[in-house]
Amino acid sequence: MTAGWRRDVPYNELPTPPDADRLETRAVLKEAVEARAALARLDESAASIPNAAVLINAIPLLEAQASSEIENIVTTTDALFRHAEDDAHADPATKEALRYRSALRAGFDHVRSRGLSTSVAMEVCTTIKGHHMDLRSLPGTRIGNPSTGEVAYSPPEGQEVIAGMLADWERFIHADDGMDPVVRMAAAHYQFEAIHPFTDGNGRTGRILNILMLTDAGVLGQPLLYLSRYFIETKADYYRLLLKVTAENAWEDWIRYVLKGVAQSSIQTTTKIADIKSLQERFAHTARAASRGSADSELQSVLFEQPYCRISTVMARCEVSRPTAVKWLDALVSVGVLTDIKVGRERLFINHDLLELLARR
Ligand SMILES: Nc1ncnc2c1ncn2[C@@H]1O[C@H](COP(=O)(O)OP(=O)(O)OP(=O)(O)O)[C@@H](O)[C@H]1O
Ligand SMILES: [Mg+2]
Repeated sequence: MTAGWRRDVPYNELPTPPDADRLETRAVLKEAVEARAALARLDESAASIPNAAVLINAIPLLEAQASSEIENIVTTTDALFRHAEDDAHADPATKEALRYRSALRAGFDHVRSRGLSTSVAMEVCTTIKGHHMDLRSLPGTRIGNPSTGEVAYSPPEGQEVIAGMLADWERFIHADDGMDPVVRMAAAHYQFEAIHPFTDGNGRTGRILNILMLTDAGVLGQPLLYLSRYFIETKADYYRLLLKVTAENAWEDWIRYVLKGVAQSSIQTTTKIADIKSLQERFAHTARAASRGSADSELQSVLFEQPYCRISTVMARCEVSRPTAVKWLDALVSVGVLTDIKVGRERLFINHDLLELLARR
């Protein structure tokens, strides 16, 4: 047991994470090498796809869906992509997941221009929640055990205390100590969750920060890792191992759990990218046979960035008239690679194979 810690008392003595010597055990380093290799392959495969915008739109939406599901905000892949460009008619859960995607994108841009800091965390949480989020100032926040509902952990209290701990967290993520960036990400994720700076949204904010830490460290070029799926599929372990760091100083178990997730989800994301790439090739082949216009390369990009496509989007992106856009899209419907549906007075064209591929676990 960690001396001085009680699950029902705010943990104002939360220590900073240990240094590299203590965290990087032999077992951890071995798994870090595997995680890094899998990440490198993911990064390569993302760079090799002809149109990166396809991935930058789709993968963060899947990440958003899985990460929000941990909080029981359940939306379908179908609803998510249907409302991706305009959420005016989306249900609340879909809107919330779409905000997660926006937060990830904005966070990525922010980190690229100004680096990763506490203010990014606040901005990310604010975007996720859809209203301004400040550091917690009121007492009483508790983390429950998801299966029994009992109090499992009480985060620190007092805005000053929290701000001080976040400043330490920020120093930790930028320390020049040679720690492996994935090991650092795992340790920083625990630390962020244990500080629990906000009244809500800490899990999702922390999971976005994970990806941003990897892009900031130069390990990933784009925020394309779909890691939250691992956390949701292993939610009991996720909660159990976070708590075990606090209660028993079990850093190694936690770090190894995260490294395994990074390796696994990198491999799965790489496979998804390869599948998207080969679907793009099949699609282009069929489109060429359908009509010359349907093979327009800009049109192909649009249909993979937006599996739910509007006529107006094609007009704008391909700079064609409405009749031309309709003619191209209809040709693709006639050869079976698009399905059209009517929503109100509007026609929507669905790249159904892509949607099915994205939704597949
Ligand atoms: N024992 C623990 N110690 C520290 N952090 C924990 C512990 N158990 C769970 N957590 C973290 O707290 C998060 C939940 O906090 P909160 O409800 O503020 O976040 P959320 O984003 O709204 O929810 P969720 O993470 O469920 O989507 C969990 O996702 C996990 O990251
Ligand atoms: Mg919550």
